[in-house]
Amino acid sequence: MTTRPILAQTPPMGWNSWNTFGGDINEVVIRETVDAFVSEGLKDAGYEYVVIDDLWEADERINGRLTWDPEMFPHGIPALADYVHSKGLKFGIYSCAGSHTCAGKPASYGYEEVDARTFAQWGVDFLKYDFCYAPAGTDGPMLYRRMGQALRAAGRPILFSLCEWGKHKPWEWGVRTGGQMWRTTGDINDSWESILQIGFEQQVGLAAYAGPGHWNDPDMLVVGMYGKGNVARGGCTDAEYRSHFSLWCLLASPLMIGCDVQNMNQATKDILLNREAIAVNQDPLGRQGYEVGRVPWARDVAVTWAKPLQDGSVAVGLFNLGERDGRRIAVAWETLGIHDRRPCKVRDLWAREDLGVHAGSFDARVDRHDVAMLRITPVREGE
Ligand code: GLA
Repeated sequence: MTTRPILAQTPPMGWNSWNTFGGDINEVVIRETVDAFVSEGLKDAGYEYVVIDDLWEADERINGRLTWDPEMFPHGIPALADYVHSKGLKFGIYSCAGSHTCAGKPASYGYEEVDARTFAQWGVDFLKYDFCYAPAGTDGPMLYRRMGQALRAAGRPILFSLCEWGKHKPWEWGVRTGGQMWRTTGDINDSWESILQIGFEQQVGLAAYAGPGHWNDPDMLVVGMYGKGNVARGGCTDAEYRSHFSLWCLLASPLMIGCDVQNMNQATKDILLNREAIAVNQDPLGRQGYEVGRVPWARDVAVTWAKPLQDGSVAVGLFNLGERDGRRIAVAWETLGIHDRRPCKVRDLWAREDLGVHAGSFDARVDRHDVAMLRITPVREGE
């Protein structure tokens, strides 16, 4: 009897084709993305899964089996999976729990077992499983259980990523389907409004449902899109992308890059490759962060999120969601569960700078839509 690896002990990291490429995908784009994972340092930073989203499929099944669009993938999906594996990365694909995918291609309803076996044979390591065209009389838990069971029976460890958009609280039942992550919201787009809504509003209250092997998924990253690509809606500033990435790290969210990694500018690389922010996301304790402070002041809301870490530190994000630059935002040790008198080392994870030892509280000036991301480490007696 072979033992299976335990998947997603820390939040999955990788890239997904949808945000930038939508239906404009092919094997060349995917291979070049894989190459960029290596050459741009994404692989070294921990990004691992390269996932093809919807529209890879041919219009019809062949002999009852899903197959790829032969023009987009002339060498076939198994050869592409081999290429991904040859670079030490993992390969992901997409299907849907209904009769058709959201973009109208054949999907897995009624074909769960054969599709799971097909994916296993192709060398798939990750399945994103959507929720369009679910037949009347079925429901999410039932359809996701079916595919979860089919994946187990197919005999290959395949990370199961539920994409039910949070409609029926998948955080309450996703783990019982065999899922390692589940979308908690509708689709993100490349705008500050979307980050505010999906991240800062809709993730409140979900922290108890995440942990090693099972994660809430507030959707893929839009960092570095700058208004270009399939889900572009005007784009964001670098400060907004930094806030977005910081929140996703504090949320222990999967970090699935959505921009074109072959064409990242320096600011995008500085964000996506910030090892200290990634270490917060990947911390082995596996706690999801939660909102510990919200100071509304007309439209100038400031929010504070905190994520306990394995070594006794607490990662903190001081976010200025308002319109005024230089807003002073404070965090009191008390809200972090640290005694007021405990001296703590404070490190700024974006400036990569130690800010000294403080007791009681710490405050920073934060520009509009930007963040101060801190690691606060209690100094032990005798240190
Ligand atoms: C849904 C999902 C998206 C994407 C598209 C593909 O909208 O939520 O993430 O997978 O389908 O059609």
